[in-house]
Amino acid sequence: MNAPTPLIAGNWKMNGTAGALAEAQAIKAGAPASGVRVALCPPATLVERMSRALAGGGVIIGGQDCHAEPSGAFTGDVSAEMLADAGASLVILGHSERRAGHGESDSDVVAKVEAALRGGLEPIICVGETLDEREAGRAIEVVTRQVRGSLPASLAGKAFTVAYEPVWAIGTGLTPSSDDIVEIHQAIRATLREMFGAGGDGPAILYGGSVKPGNAAEILGLPEVGGALVGGASLKAADFLAIVAGAPKA
Ligand code: PGA
Repeated sequence: MNAPTPLIAGNWKMNGTAGALAEAQAIKAGAPASGVRVALCPPATLVERMSRALAGGGVIIGGQDCHAEPSGAFTGDVSAEMLADAGASLVILGHSERRAGHGESDSDVVAKVEAALRGGLEPIICVGETLDEREAGRAIEVVTRQVRGSLPASLAGKAFTVAYEPVWAIGTGLTPSSDDIVEIHQAIRATLREMFGAGGDGPAILYGGSVKPGNAAEILGLPEVGGALVGGASLKAADFLAIVAGAPKA
């Protein structure tokens, strides 16, 4: 099977008000027209405005989380259907900041992935070990267990992406060695093949955690790495576009 088109997705986390749309416009202006998919996942309050501001360009808009239900008495939550209605076509699910800060379990992530599919959103499902787990030699075990536990069988044949984001690398400036990234990506790929057969070859596996202009080309050049999920460095167009430029073109 051909390698999937690389995806470089920016996760703005809880950053950005109307003034930040200028950075998104600059990202739209500088994003390549083909060969790489570029996505921005702003806070929910900006999804609709960013979708309108970037209409007609190649940048895909995504959410950062969604509730498992389409609507109802869930104060403060946003559903997959609402994100799609606001112009999103992707959603990040199971980010470690949701798992750690909001107590999300693998089975919660499964329910959210089902919701994303129901709402017509392509899920980016995040997995990754903590520093304690890595130092205990348990990174592969933890990550493959999260993949098995967080991906429902209903993903078979659907467009989705897995993001390997070691918790200790997020926002810290630390990154795993290339060998460690390759080892985990290979373990994720093997798990996807166990779960989905030949369909497990299709989805891109992203790397996330302190991706910067200075390390992007090396990380994205690893054949196992199908793109990046970028936090801090996605807030500035110049940095994010430099990362996008480091992606090998499909
Ligand atoms: P970072 O965040 O690039 O700021 O380390 C990555 C992420 O949390 O997706």
